[in-house]
Amino acid sequence: MKQVLVLTGTPGVGKSSISRLLASLLNGIHVSLGDLVRQRGLSSGLDPERQALIADEELLSKHVKEIIKKTDGCIVVDGHLATSVLGAKDIAFAFVLRRDPDDLLNVLVGRGFAERKARENVAAEILDVCLFDAVETYGEGKVCEVDVSDKSLQDVANEIISVVSGQSRCRKGIVDWLTRLESQGRLDDFLASL
Ligand SMILES: Nc1ncnc2c1ncn2[C@@H]1O[C@H](COP(=O)(O)OP(=O)(O)OP(=O)(O)O)[C@@H](O)[C@H]1O
Ligand SMILES: [Mg+2]
Repeated sequence: MKQVLVLTGTPGVGKSSISRLLASLLNGIHVSLGDLVRQRGLSSGLDPERQALIADEELLSKHVKEIIKKTDGCIVVDGHLATSVLGAKDIAFAFVLRRDPDDLLNVLVGRGFAERKARENVAAEILDVCLFDAVETYGEGKVCEVDVSDKSLQDVANEIISVVSGQSRCRKGIVDWLTRLESQGRLDDFLASL
C-alpha cells in the first residue's frame, strides 16, 4: 500500500537519521528533500545570507510527486521543505520531531553552525515554528509530534510506527519549551539575540 509519511522539524532534530531507519524498518524508501535539491539541481539560486541553495519548490514538488506516483509502499519524505511541496491530500501523516533546546544547541554548534545561526534555529524550535507550519499545511488530524530528546533512533522510529499502524494516538502539545525556559528564567538566553 502506498503511504507517504513526512518527517519535519528544526535543523538538527534528527529528521534524516530517523527517516533512514524508519524507511528501512517499513521496507520503504527515504526521500531527502535537501539531497534532491542539491543532487538534481532543483534550485533557483543561492541565498547569500544563508549561504544555502534556494529550492525551486515547483520543480521539487513535481519531482517528489513523480517519485510517489511510481513507488508502491512506504515513502518517508525528510525535510521541512515538505510543507512547500506536498499538500494534505498527498500524505498520510506528518511527524514533527521535537528536541530539547539545550541538546539542539549542542548538536548545531557541534556541526559547525555559527553561534548566531545555531541560536536562530533553537529559537525556531522553542517557538514551535515547524509545528505551526505543518498544521497550517496538513491540518490538525494529520500532524503528530514526537519528542526525540534522550531517545534512541530505534525508540523514535518505533513510536512513529506505532502511530502509523493505529496502535498509538497521534499526539500534539507534548512539549512546551517556552514555558519551561521561562520558568527557569532562561528564555532570554535563547531569544534575546534575535
Ligand atoms: N535520537 C537521537 N539521539 C542521539 N543523537 C541523535 C538522535 N537523532 C539524531 N541524532 C544526531 O543528531 C544530529 C542531527 O541529526 P540529523 O542530521 O538526522 O538531523 P536533521 O534533522 O536531518 O538535520 P537537517 O535539518 O540539518 O538535515 C546527528 O549528528 C545525529 O547523529
Ligand atoms: Mg537532514
